[in-house]
Amino acid sequence: MPLSRRKLLKTLGAAGSAAFLGRFPEGLDTRTPLSVFDDNPYFQKPDRAVTAITLGAGNRGNVYGDYALSYPDELDIIGVAEPVALRNERYTQKHRIAAENRFNTWEDVFKRPKFADAVLITTPDNLHYGPCMAALKAGYDILLEKPISPSEQECRDILNLAKKTGRVVAVCHVLRYAPYFVKLREMIHSGAIGELVSFQHLEPIEHIHMSHSYVRGNWHDKKATTPIILAKSCHDLDILRWMVGKPCKQIVAMGSLKWFRKENAPEGSTARCMDGCAVEGRCPYSAMDIYYRKRSRLYVFDLPEEKEKQETLSSVPAHHKLRPLCVPNGQQPGRPLRQHHGI
Ligand SMILES: NC(=O)c1ccc[n+]([C@@H]2O[C@H](COP(=O)([O-])OP(=O)(O)OC[C@H]3O[C@@H](n4cnc5c(N)ncnc54)[C@H](O)[C@@H]3O)[C@@H](O)[C@H]2O)c1
Repeated sequence: MPLSRRKLLKTLGAAGSAAFLGRFPEGLDTRTPLSVFDDNPYFQKPDRAVTAITLGAGNRGNVYGDYALSYPDELDIIGVAEPVALRNERYTQKHRIAAENRFNTWEDVFKRPKFADAVLITTPDNLHYGPCMAALKAGYDILLEKPISPSEQECRDILNLAKKTGRVVAVCHVLRYAPYFVKLREMIHSGAIGELVSFQHLEPIEHIHMSHSYVRGNWHDKKATTPIILAKSCHDLDILRWMVGKPCKQIVAMGSLKWFRKENAPEGSTARCMDGCAVEGRCPYSAMDIYYRKRSRLYVFDLPEEKEKQETLSSVPAHHKLRPLCVPNGQQPGRPLRQHHGI
């Protein structure tokens, strides 16, 4: 029985919220209705599990995929498209995906007639438009990672086609499902805090997150992907609009590449943290410290699943040779940087 548009939207919204709720303190059952979730209008259990195909089995594809593992009666991943063989294989194993539903790239999925309720588009920023338009044409409902597209025209094309086909395009602006923002919006709209005169919202990207994602990582080059105003701040633009409930009249944005420049590199630093850098031990951006000693944010490296095998650098698959890049020093113009954290 096909799912109603409303029900699917609610279900996919729940998947988005789960991604955010995952950050709650250990031991807290994130599905336990918190006070603000008692009447959460965004969640309704579906009559049956929504079947979905994941396009892009990287970090986000696994976040949503893991929701399906936790709540198999709500979401069932039955297909995957992913060009990195290791990721494709791991995802297939994790979700027991049938051989005929495994694909190398998103284009291949749409060579087949529709075979699931929805697609989860978790490909890189510049690869949202193609799969989204193809999925709409094929009749799928869609969970689309933000940003919708780097181009306004492409955003409008998606909107128009979604309206024309009547399919759901649920954009992963996950802040909308966070209890903090749900409550805040409720308070604004109920008038509990009086008339809204001024609103200040800050997204404090702490320094390691900044260096990990926007200097070393996937979003290190706005030409290769999207600039930070889209990659990160689209959440902030969205949440402000959603809270206030009225369209904005003017947007002002400023920013500059001031800090992470070669001329700010400390004395004695080298292009890569492991090249004998004299200040590595006290550098706040030391990749050795972040990834190797503290073992944080390792999900981008496709390490072996067994903990004991994660200890050696040789365990990093060939597509990520872990040679951590100095944040200011590794940014020489023209230096070829590959996706992820210094190759
Ligand atoms: N909603 C949020 O809060 C949030 C947070 C982080 C990232 N994102 C967004 O999610 C998207 C994915 O980010 P990520 O961190 O998971 O990146 P990622 O690099 O970990 O995953 C993207 C995956 O897409 C795969 N891919 C590349 N080309 C493909 C193709 N032709 N067909 C199928 N798969 C292909 C890559 O191999 C990779 O495994 C991005 O658009 C990003 O901006 C959203």
